Amino acid sequence: MNTNEKIENLKNELEVKLKNVTCMKELTDLKVEYLGKKGYVTELSSLMKDLSVEEKKAFGKSLNELRNYVEEKISFLKEKLEEAELNMKLERESIDITLPATKLSVGITHPLTKIINDIEDLFISMGYDVVEGPEVENDLYNFELLNVPVGHPARDMQDSLFINEEILMRTQTSSVQVRTMLQNKEKSPIRIICPGKVYRKDDDDATHSHEFHQIEGLVVDKDVSMNHLKGTLEILAKKMFGENREIRFRPSYFPFTEPSVEVDVSCFKCNGEGCNICKGTGWIEVLGAGMVHPNVLKGCGYDPKKYMGYAFGVGVERIAMLKYEIPDIREFYTNDMRFLEQFNVIEGGDSNESK
Ligand code: PHE
Repeated sequence: MNTNEKIENLKNELEVKLKNVTCMKELTDLKVEYLGKKGYVTELSSLMKDLSVEEKKAFGKSLNELRNYVEEKISFLKEKLEEAELNMKLERESIDITLPATKLSVGITHPLTKIINDIEDLFISMGYDVVEGPEVENDLYNFELLNVPVGHPARDMQDSLFINEEILMRTQTSSVQVRTMLQNKEKSPIRIICPGKVYRKDDDDATHSHEFHQIEGLVVDKDVSMNHLKGTLEILAKKMFGENREIRFRPSYFPFTEPSVEVDVSCFKCNGEGCNICKGTGWIEVLGAGMVHPNVLKGCGYDPKKYMGYAFGVGVERIAMLKYEIPDIREFYTNDMRFLEQFNVIEGGDSNESK
């Protein structure tokens, strides 16, 4: 067999072998079989040394052509195989879009947080600042400077959790108001609300919790009257219980305000006709308020002859229980999703808003 025939033979054999290749591995092996160090093409080139110069030239050219031919054939098949492999992979990975999706549970804003957020937004829109303070408080700020000295009977109104003689869990966020007045060195006007947790030595039952939330408001300025207080609380009542609400003041007593009032809102369920919620009276007690006692102003460095102010305090749980007719305060703290998820519906699904 002369060299040309050998080359032709190799080509024909390659053609047959290529047809039998089924995977990349086989193709790589075939490449080595032809073009590797001990491959057919290399083997063939060893014949070179026995040839004349003329023959060498022609043979060299044919060998190069053979090498290119083999390479081309192999890389052509390689591309085909890669394509087929990719198609197979895509086929294997195809997803069934008719399968039901995994259910993701999305969190909702807790009803108490929602009420606090709404009240904060309302007061921010009226130019108030939101101020927070510590829950572990000094007696000085929780009682003393609020005109409730040691031995004052009003201390019994708020059964307190004392940590030692001086330190207690705050019973009211009024302590933040005292701190704000003291910190205000220029003794300039103040307009704040203070939301937060407060603590009382109560046995937990359907209407009592040793821990609950309050929002207290304080305005101190030169010309502040009971009228301003009433107007402000009317806006708050409407925001909480609806546009048609009215409020009324009833005389009351708090040591830190004089005069003091309990504030009732006209019943949002029966519109004042009398129902189970308002216990037939048409009115529901919602908060306490009053004009800041001169002793409190004085104690916090404000001259009561120049300055006056009003303050109010509202229990967040109480508002939520009334608004959503929740019979047991403990529902707020057990984090039962079946309870909490209802508020997403009540708020028209907007309670996912980020704050
Ligand atoms: N701090 C009072 C309470 O916890 C509420 C209140 C605040 C009353 C401000 C009047 C003025 O009961």
